[in-house]
Amino acid sequence: MERLEGYEVIGGTKIRGTVRISGAKNAVLPMLAATLLVDRPCEIIDAPDLRDVTVMTQILERLGAKVVVGRDQEGKRTLTVDAGDLWTHEVPDSLMRQMRSSIFLMGPLLGRMGKVRVSYPGGCAIGPRPIDLHLSSLQALGVRIEERGGYIDASTGGLRGTEIHLDFPSVGATENTMMAAVTARGITVIRNAAKEPEIVDLQNFLNAVGAKIRGAGLDVIRIEGTHSLGGARHQAIPDRIETGTFMAAACITGGEVLMDNCIQEHVEAAIAKLQEAGAEIEEAGDHQLHVAGPSRVRAVDFKTLPYPGFPTDMQPQVMSLMTLGLGTSVITETIFENRFNQAEELKRMGANVKTEGRTAVIKGVNRLFGATVAASDLRSGAALVLAGLAAEGRTVVEGCHHIDRGYEGLESKLSLLGARVRRIPVNGS
Ligand code: UD1
Repeated sequence: MERLEGYEVIGGTKIRGTVRISGAKNAVLPMLAATLLVDRPCEIIDAPDLRDVTVMTQILERLGAKVVVGRDQEGKRTLTVDAGDLWTHEVPDSLMRQMRSSIFLMGPLLGRMGKVRVSYPGGCAIGPRPIDLHLSSLQALGVRIEERGGYIDASTGGLRGTEIHLDFPSVGATENTMMAAVTARGITVIRNAAKEPEIVDLQNFLNAVGAKIRGAGLDVIRIEGTHSLGGARHQAIPDRIETGTFMAAACITGGEVLMDNCIQEHVEAAIAKLQEAGAEIEEAGDHQLHVAGPSRVRAVDFKTLPYPGFPTDMQPQVMSLMTLGLGTSVITETIFENRFNQAEELKRMGANVKTEGRTAVIKGVNRLFGATVAASDLRSGAALVLAGLAAEGRTVVEGCHHIDRGYEGLESKLSLLGARVRRIPVNGS
């Protein structure tokens, strides 16, 4: 049973100071799945301490892997996975349902054991999230798939490399296919592949264990199958969505933040939009960005797109920012069907937001007021915390567990920057 906790935010403080960005959740999750391909220990450096990551390590343990949490010599959190002995190909139902990303356990388990059983995945409440592209790509690689009673049973007599054209550059389907193709016989080519930085990081990790992959970050990825895989150490890239969230936090409070451990190239779309809205953002040093928010942001329009376009995972946070913008902002969400969960809650805080289908129109108001609001998914939760930072008075964001899925110590990082945020127990409904 989930402990019911919320964030209490007392608004009105400009945040100031330095924050270290954690390793990327969306890079570490597929990498953890990929460790199942290898029967030697693999160490992932800068693995964030998050609920989704914990769920993934619990899945690996239930499959038979040993997972050790540690620190490297610089104090970065490490996860060492030894998947030398796997005793089952069945991914536990209860854990699978907690996290949609668990679907990409299929690729590595098929590569390693030739079979896998998973239930339909869970995850964020942001509209229907089909897995047809995952399944059709695996079928093209020679996997038989049977679906019954909420389970997917997949097996193969031997994966065979082939040409795969994705109808849409799905991040998860690209990763799943890459992982399945690592040990397939022959060459696999993925066309219209997703180009997100996490895919490049997965390629780097897989190549470190001995895979032969090139092209990640471009439309076409080419994988030459091999069985000579071994252990590796790999440092995950910084979390670009956490970086963007702190940039938006600096902007919404009119504050100034130095972000340490970030890669500018990965957040260019968010930087461009926030600069258009009036923020000053510049490189400050090695892997550092300095952000100064304007005294009042300007309304800007944007559309979410696959990378390198504006990321859907930053849309809710920038919507919060736009509620206080000078003018009217139009947001178009092209990636997910139902990703404006935060809009109704923002209205409770005094925002003027109208949504219809995939479009939201936000007329900037002069102030937001503290209220009790509910996070219903990870990024809408972060968006509501940001709104609370700028609102007058006290905001309670219920549903901390959604935020804990993807932000490492959000309240402590914000508190260190001077924000008044703390975790409090809240009543269940
Ligand atoms: C990943 C990220 C998530 C981010 C998303 C889009 C992880 C763990 N999660 O999710 O934070 O919001 O990319 O950048 O990395 N689709 C299909 N069929 C499929 C697969 C996807 O129709 O088989 C559709 C989805 O419903 C959605 C769109 O494609 O509308 C994008 O999904 P996808 O890129 O696969 O996102 P995820 O990998 O689930």
